Formats: sequence, C-alpha cells, structure tokens
Amino acid sequence: ADIASLGDLRGKRVLVRSDLNVPLDGTTITDDGRIRASVPTISELSGAGARVVVCAHLGRPKGAPEERYSLRPVVGRLSELLGRDVVFATDTVGESAQAAVAGMADGDVVLLENLRFNAGETAKTDEDRAEFADALAGLADAYVSDGFGVVHRKQASVYDVATRLPSAMGGLVRAEVEVLRRLTEDPERPYAVVLGGAKVADKLAVIDNLMGTADRLLIGGGMLFTFLAAQGHEIGKSLFDADSVDACRGYLERAEREGVEIVLPVDVVVGKEFSADTETAVVDADSIPADAMGLDIGPRSAALYAEKVADARTVFWNGPMGAFEMAPFAAGTKALAQALVDATSAGALTVVGGGDSAAAVRQLGFTDDQFGHISTGGGASLEYLEGKELPGIAILTKGTN
Ligand code: 3PG
Repeated sequence: ADIASLGDLRGKRVLVRSDLNVPLDGTTITDDGRIRASVPTISELSGAGARVVVCAHLGRPKGAPEERYSLRPVVGRLSELLGRDVVFATDTVGESAQAAVAGMADGDVVLLENLRFNAGETAKTDEDRAEFADALAGLADAYVSDGFGVVHRKQASVYDVATRLPSAMGGLVRAEVEVLRRLTEDPERPYAVVLGGAKVADKLAVIDNLMGTADRLLIGGGMLFTFLAAQGHEIGKSLFDADSVDACRGYLERAEREGVEIVLPVDVVVGKEFSADTETAVVDADSIPADAMGLDIGPRSAALYAEKVADARTVFWNGPMGAFEMAPFAAGTKALAQALVDATSAGALTVVGGGDSAAAVRQLGFTDDQFGHISTGGGASLEYLEGKELPGIAILTKGTN
C-alpha cells in the first residue's frame, strides 16, 4: 500500500524509516545523495500535516552509543534540504525521543539518533527485536518504509514495526523497485551488467542469477583477479580469493555453454604497493609481474568495456573498476561512467547500483541526471537482482496490515 492508504495524516505521528547512511569524513558529509533521496517522502508527509518521526542508522555500531556513529551531523543538511528545522532526539526510544515526539506540532519533523545504538535493532531473532520494535512503534500511529538501502535487512525498524502499525511503502522504495523490476522482468536487449568492487564472494550469487538474464557480464575491480587466476594466469600480489576460484571457473565454463558473454580485461594498471604514489605500469592481463598488484583495468580494457556498453539497451553497474579513490587508478571507473552516460543519451536504461558506486561517480564529477537511475541501495539492489525475497518489501506486500 502507498501513503494514501494511511488516510488523513493531519496530526498523525508517522514513523519513517529512511536510509541516511552517508559517508562522513569526521562530521563532514562527503556525499549527501541518500539524504536528498529521502527528502521527498518526508516533505510529502510533513506537507500533509503529519508529525514525522524519521529513523535511520549510520555505519555499524555494535548495539551501543558511539559518538563517531551519531546521526547528529545529518540534521543540518536534512533541515536545509527540507527547508524546515528538524529536531534531533539524542536517543532512539528513550526520554529525549519521547519528549521530542510529545512536543511536535502538525508538520514537524524529528530525527531519532542512530537506531543501531540499540541492540534490539539488529538482533537475529524476532523475540530479541520485539522490545525495541514495540518501543519504536509506540512513538507513532503509522509507519512508512522509505529506506531502500536497508530493505534487505530483517531489522526492527525495517521489518518488525511494519507488523505493529498501519504501514505503507514510501515513494523512494516504490521507485527503486519499479526500476529494478524492469531489469529482472524482460529487460530490453542487449542487457549488459558491469560488476566491480573488491570482494568476489559478495557477487557470486548475483553472477549466478544474472547468467540467466544478462547477455553480457563485464568484470572489473579487485574481484577480476580471482577470475584471471581461474583462467590460470599469474596475478602477482593482486587481490585473490582462494575460496571463490572454483566458482569463477565454473561461471566461465557455464558462460561458454550457455552463450553468455563474460568479459574480462585484456590489460591492467599495476602498482608495486596499494598507494597513490607507487610506481605504475600498464601490462597485459595475462602477464602481471609477480611483485606487482593490479589496481585498475587498463586503457584497452576500458575501451573494450565502453564498446560493450555502447550498443546495450539496458545496463546495470555495481562496483568501481579499480582503486578509483587514488588518481592513478581512477581512469577505468571514469571511462565506465562515461560509457553509461553515453548509453543513456543513446536511449538505453542505465542503472548505477549502490551507495559506494553512486558516491564514486559523483566524486569523479558526474551528476545524477546523466544516468537513468542511481539506486540508493548497494546490497539491497544486488539482493533484488539475485532474486531473493527482501524482508522489508515482503512485509509490506503480505497484506498483514
Ligand atoms: C548500505 O550502506 O548499503 C545500507 O545503508 C545498509 O547498511 P548495512 O549494510 O550496514 O546494513
């Protein structure tokens, strides 16, 4: 159900789960994409006269308050973007939260402190989350789920509160799901998927599922070296996951059998050390020196990947192509982003998945409107593409309310 199903909101206390998990440098927000994406739903509720209680997490504190994970640095930016002052509660369901909610007028917005300061938020069992879920639900008359980046988490504020209050799906979650559905149900072809990032183990399930839907899989980032090793190449000091090498070999064989194209780099940029001022060289992908590590795809590979994206009608991209935060290893990621921008202009549906990938393209100077869709969810969008049931979506659509 959407927000309209909650009826007249004037004077109602509405708990909104947003994903405000933004990257911070100390207390400075380095990418505010998730805050901007959260604003329309909060504005809509406030504009309808609701008393909006926003809840969210930041990082992964271990169930107790830790200053460096406080959501306080987010309040200013959220207020600015909403165009109204947001009141910050210094706890989640304690005295400060209760007083802040009791003092609200219609249209007011309160932000609760990091939900993960309470162990009940992320506890494994329904019983262990119950007390915290009850307390959160006790702060409100209705619930709106709008944190797409966390819908794959079975956590108190994402899942359990929806069993305790009349609940609705916010516009951000709805929009994200609509785009991802277009990728899984009958995507326009050719459909190219670009996967990067460091950890190949995190991507195995999604590769498995995509073998059935995508026409081309382009592999970059630290994960590519386990694929090169699976082909029998020397990878020097590059990232390598011994436990995944058999799976990678299996995918390469299956791709051959099933006519799916798996594209690996033909050249890589190597360094002696993982550092911005290390000595670099471009080498063929099958001849990485024993004392060097691969830190980006090379220029010939970047051109090849751009070509594979250029005539695609649907493109999904998750994960940087190299260690883009260091200038000597940013070219591959930049070339890929440019290829998606060009494909967007040529009419393809392009989707950038994940908080980190989104932050990467913005850091490299691209803007959101150059892409078809920038998803706020990394893990969530991958799990959706894996075909997994996402608890935060399932609970809203099961009709329990
Ligand atoms: C994310 O950053 O992908 C979301 O905010 C979820 O965070 P989590 O992986 O710590 O649950």
